Amino acid sequence: MQYFIKTFGCQMNEHDSVKIGAMLRQMGYQPADRPETADFILFNTCTIRDKAQMKAMSEIGKTAVLKEQHPGLVVGVCGCVAQQQKEAVASRFPHVDLLFGPDQISKLPELLEKAPQRKRAVSALDLVNTQADYEFVSLIPPKDQSGATAYVTIMKGCDNACTFCIVPSVRGAEVSRPADDILNEVKGLARHGVKEVTLLGQTVNSYGRGGRADGVSFPQLLRRIADETAIQRIRFTSPHPKDLREDLIQEYVENQKLCRHMHLPLQSGSSDVLKAMKRAYSREHYLKMVKMLQAAVPGIAITTDIIVGFPGETEADFQDTLDMIREVGFVQIYAFVYSKRPGTKAAEMPDDTSLAVKEERLQRLFDLANTVARAHNDSLIGTEQEILIEGEGERPGQWRGRTAGYTIVNVDGPAAVGQMMRVKVSKAYNYSLIGEQVSA
Ligand code: 5AD
Ligand code: SF4
Repeated sequence: MQYFIKTFGCQMNEHDSVKIGAMLRQMGYQPADRPETADFILFNTCTIRDKAQMKAMSEIGKTAVLKEQHPGLVVGVCGCVAQQQKEAVASRFPHVDLLFGPDQISKLPELLEKAPQRKRAVSALDLVNTQADYEFVSLIPPKDQSGATAYVTIMKGCDNACTFCIVPSVRGAEVSRPADDILNEVKGLARHGVKEVTLLGQTVNSYGRGGRADGVSFPQLLRRIADETAIQRIRFTSPHPKDLREDLIQEYVENQKLCRHMHLPLQSGSSDVLKAMKRAYSREHYLKMVKMLQAAVPGIAITTDIIVGFPGETEADFQDTLDMIREVGFVQIYAFVYSKRPGTKAAEMPDDTSLAVKEERLQRLFDLANTVARAHNDSLIGTEQEILIEGEGERPGQWRGRTAGYTIVNVDGPAAVGQMMRVKVSKAYNYSLIGEQVSA
């Protein structure tokens, strides 16, 4: 029996797909190279923007033909579209056999068993909102499948109410994973050769809020991972700027395993837009925290997410965003045109800016971001950096690693995945560097 998983969306989804793959292998399935040879095809979907959802819908539609050719084929849909659009998926695609939401991954074996006898698609879509009821699937990859880096879930869901965002309605309330569970998973990963973990959650720095993590705060969790496991590098994504406190900044100063990088989603540089987004911080607050971070951790790389064209955003608001890109000096930005999500507060706000204007703003934003990123990378030429080799590079004989600041470095071999290597940066592009090995 073979399975094929197609994943859309964020790192949580990517990581969920890895966990689902591990579950399926435990059940005796093997990964298929192509959907055509699979007995089970699963779409792990994303609904954060309309485009992501449409793409998933169109891919699901295409499997109807495969099912005619291969009647035993089971087609499943999981992730955020399954959670939010169950009815639409089931009625538009009667060939879909099973559906489950992000909180119900552990039900997959049961659903696969029931699917062949189904009249209607079988489903598991409850949201679980308490620690006592929530089952975090633990992941220790088989030795032959572990790479240099791995994700580790530390919390699920989101208790904020950003007006543009669909996530709280598809991923439910925040639940923090017990610290001992997280530590055990990280220890297991380190034993299997993983060198770097990225802690995952919608708002990682509210980890432990409400006393659901045995009193362990996020900075304390970072410290325990550094002290009690053999992992060499720690990253996390994403913290919320409104919950960024000095204790986390101080942790960078004291914890040398913490990579000198923070992904801190800004969304907009205009305090008026931030207010309409209900982000609960102002432009000034964001800048103040960033300046504090940059002073405490010189050279720290800051990356961000930006939404362009939120309802009511004026050219002056947008200029404020451009200004912040220069002021902070983001080394990379992930930016998107605002996408209206049904059921969110922002979907009811008047929006009289045309898509053409929004797309033009996005282009201007990328142009500036490229210049800022390039200036940062140019400043690294001639410096020595420690990189972790993650895989093969672009050209034959070349290897690809990352600096602690998250920048990709291509370097000539010999090397091996998982190796820490000192390199001297010899050339810079907008989003990567070329390095040369420095003998130890
Ligand atoms: N439209 C555009 N971008 C969005 N994001 C979240 N919701 C929307 C939306 N409705 C972006 C935010 C978030 C990232 C994961 O996706 O920038 O940080
Ligand atoms: Fe997409 Fe958000 Fe769901 Fe991730 S949590 S898959 S970004 S909708």
